[in-house]
Amino acid sequence: MFSRYKKPNQPPKLAVAPGAAPAPAAVADAPAPDASRAQTARRAPPPAAAVPAQPVAGDKERKRKERMGELKVELHKRLLENLNLSALEHASETELKTEIGAISGEAMTEMSISLNTSERANLVQELYDEVMGLGPLEPLLKDETVSDILVNGPQQIFVERGGKLQLSDITFKDEKHLLRIIDKIVSAVGRRVDESNPYVDARLQDGSRFNAMVPPVAVDGSLVSIRKFKKDKLAIDDLVRFGAFTEEMAAYLQAAVSTRLNVIVSGGTGSGKTTTLNALSSFIDNSERILTIEDTAELQLQQIHVGRMESRPPNVEGKGAVTQRDCLRNALRMRPDRIIVGETRGEEVIDMLQAMNTGHDGSMTTIHANNARDGISRLENMVAMAGIEMPLKAVRSQIASAVNLIVQASRLQDGSRRMVSITELTGMEGDVISMQEIFRYERLGLAPDGKIIGRFTATGVRSHYSERFRQWGYDLPASIYEPVQD
Ligand SMILES: Nc1ncnc2c1ncn2[C@@H]1O[C@H](COP(=O)(O)OP(=O)(O)OP(=O)(O)O)[C@@H](O)[C@H]1O
Ligand SMILES: [Mg+2]
Repeated sequence: MFSRYKKPNQPPKLAVAPGAAPAPAAVADAPAPDASRAQTARRAPPPAAAVPAQPVAGDKERKRKERMGELKVELHKRLLENLNLSALEHASETELKTEIGAISGEAMTEMSISLNTSERANLVQELYDEVMGLGPLEPLLKDETVSDILVNGPQQIFVERGGKLQLSDITFKDEKHLLRIIDKIVSAVGRRVDESNPYVDARLQDGSRFNAMVPPVAVDGSLVSIRKFKKDKLAIDDLVRFGAFTEEMAAYLQAAVSTRLNVIVSGGTGSGKTTTLNALSSFIDNSERILTIEDTAELQLQQIHVGRMESRPPNVEGKGAVTQRDCLRNALRMRPDRIIVGETRGEEVIDMLQAMNTGHDGSMTTIHANNARDGISRLENMVAMAGIEMPLKAVRSQIASAVNLIVQASRLQDGSRRMVSITELTGMEGDVISMQEIFRYERLGLAPDGKIIGRFTATGVRSHYSERFRQWGYDLPASIYEPVQD
């Protein structure tokens, strides 16, 4: 069965791995020196164990790790030499792992290296990840508890778990290894990254958002950032359960989205903007036609009638770019009821504001800002940068009539993500946009375990849109606007 995946007439090389130590005392499961390929082949494939990250404990452990690293490089080289890569596409994971197990078993026998069962299983998994997947990144991509993967050069991989960044003990062998994996990712989506194109955005097969920057622009080795794609996006109920906002706030947001207010979700990087936008979209009625525009398609709307667009960067000749603005302009000709732009960050702001002002009410987007007031300034700046010659007051009144609500998302220092403010835009007072905060998160202190103690409260201000809510059948009780009593 292996011959299908093995290159014909290519006997494995007999080179000894550099640094391969003499055979340690044979371990029970090590293949006998004369073990034939067929015997190895019949063996049940090792379980697909995730590669455990071994803490570096002392010199001995470090040396062993180094030797294993060298062994892996040698085995990887042999696999590439010996495996028939074109036949691999149709091979099942089990078949391939059995084949890898056989080839590496053979090599280890030649190199007089023996490993126990779990070491072998880990090795086969790692080699499988190298050949078919993204090498050391693979176990992190499979790990559901990891939400972000941040690589700072080959020796440092940080992961985010539960809102907290932690250094993992997974590493790449060297920069060349890291570059090979980056290249594998970007070439799969027809892009290129090198000295002349030192940074790139891509989407992994599983939908994860990927960005890489390579040397010399990245000074200490390639930088990679991956936002893992969450198959089951957090829904409103989950967010309420996790304490991102309260049920009262959810009821208010439901009224706001259902009655087609234009909403902007504002927040810092990784604060939960996209998650919030996605959750808010669940309040949109199934009968509406929604068009989504994103740089990297992350939104997962549950409605029936959804058209998704993804902008496209220019190709290597600098041609063929389709910007968010292009998509947005085209979207206006596609009879949308609502338009959702994943993140407004540039000239598309003009078309977004126009869309919000001209019959596509109920549209939503996110912006990068630290509070509602900053969010407005950011919109003003984006309009100015788009080269629109308009007096500031005119820009402001455009914004004031387009945007009804700014929802502020924030990642607090304890890693929790909360909706720290919901603010309504109520019009203009002179040259200034008037706003009123309806709900906010109040920080009260810090628990000994570092968790932030706080609470959500209404500000006591009744919504500017209460009458609209009532007319649309969302009769929110006056009590939801009452502040929490001490
Ligand atoms: N309230 C929450 N509780 C727990 N996890 C959350 C919450 N909100 C978001 N997350 C998780 O935090 C990560 C970042 O969220 P998200 O992608 O929505 O952030 P973002 O502000 O859009 O980031 P970026 O600025 O990079 O686009 C995701 O893995 C998401 O699942
Ligand atoms: Mg986002």
